[in-house]
Amino acid sequence: MKLEIDGHRLLAELETLSTFSDAEPPAVTRVVFTPTDLQARAWLISRCDEAGLAVRQDAVGNVFARWSGADPAAPAVGTGSHIDAIPNAGKYDGVVGVLSGLEAMRALQRCGFQPKHSIELLVFATEEPTRFGVGCLGSRLLSGSLTAEAARQLRDRSGESLDEVRQKAGFQGDLESVELPAGYYKAFVELHIEQGPLLERAETPLGIVMKIAAPASLRVSIEGAGGHAGGVLMPDRQDALCSAAELILAVESAARSTGSTDSVATVGICEVFPGAVNSIPSRVRLTVDVRDTDLRRRDGMIEALESALKTVSAKRHVSVLPELLNADAPADCALDVRAALSDSCRRHGLPFLEMVSRAYHDSLFISRIAPTGMLFIPCRNGYSHRPDEYASPEDIARGVLVLAETLATLAA
Ligand code: GLV
Ligand code: MN
Ligand code: MN
Repeated sequence: MKLEIDGHRLLAELETLSTFSDAEPPAVTRVVFTPTDLQARAWLISRCDEAGLAVRQDAVGNVFARWSGADPAAPAVGTGSHIDAIPNAGKYDGVVGVLSGLEAMRALQRCGFQPKHSIELLVFATEEPTRFGVGCLGSRLLSGSLTAEAARQLRDRSGESLDEVRQKAGFQGDLESVELPAGYYKAFVELHIEQGPLLERAETPLGIVMKIAAPASLRVSIEGAGGHAGGVLMPDRQDALCSAAELILAVESAARSTGSTDSVATVGICEVFPGAVNSIPSRVRLTVDVRDTDLRRRDGMIEALESALKTVSAKRHVSVLPELLNADAPADCALDVRAALSDSCRRHGLPFLEMVSRAYHDSLFISRIAPTGMLFIPCRNGYSHRPDEYASPEDIARGVLVLAETLATLAA
């Protein structure tokens, strides 16, 4: 089997997909179920049609594009990622995995490969937590990790429910219908940029993921007392933003003090009310993102934060209310998928690192229902979730080659 990867077409597709954006280039913003996201999906589906794949979409907007195998009733081999992009993102996160999956399938078709198991490209809906506060909604529902009932409770910042938004966007049917039947996938492989600097530093073109870190996120609402910035004397203040400042530092110190580089914690949103220069902040809402490869250490950071909440509340006479949005277990990648990936790397003399994914991915949830693996390619300076995110054409092409061979091995 002589695989030829059409890197030029793939790069052109990457550029085209980046033009479906609500931000000035080179930034990309593509929030799920916005008109821009729907246009991007329509364009992508037309590419899948062109490749002769059978496309279906489910009730939450996951897109499946299938190349039927010789035994269509046998479990499929899946690949894919997401195309939604956080505000002010780059053009590679998720998108590289989707377009590489498509190009891998086309390359296998071109060289005359006939799969026994169907090969399916899966474009996950709403991987990013931007709109509904929780990430990976598509894969959570597919894997039964989130019930349809719990999904129906989710609302965006304007108060619209996931159910209303997805139906308005044209995705009908019950959310109950999204969960995949047992044994749907024989295996699943996701290609993704590393979103960290280790491959580049090691001058190694590929990473094979052994484990995906456990993510958790919380919303913390702080309620103090507002008032006139000139009139209220300092001893009388119950400033919600000063309380938030202490909490933000407590989040940072919870992660720094575990002694492990795998512990990370971030406050990425701080909403201040009323937000006037001459008014004491009366209300603040923070979101906290905590991750670790070790579940006990991750939960230890959450406990440290909960204790800081109590201390700050008592010291500053403010009410502090935490709400756990998600707390997910880590995932181990499947040994047979890792072996198929590493065999392909070795066949081509491509060095690889075995590594941990500190970012989460839909593969975290798909690994609960199918043997799952991930292939990383380097990204410049480890940058991701920013407009200057970049992966080189050579690194992308190498990733597609190994992905295609791995799909062929798993689907034979
Ligand atoms: C996914 O985008 C993550 O935040 O890890
Ligand atoms: Mn992302
Ligand atoms: Mn991603």
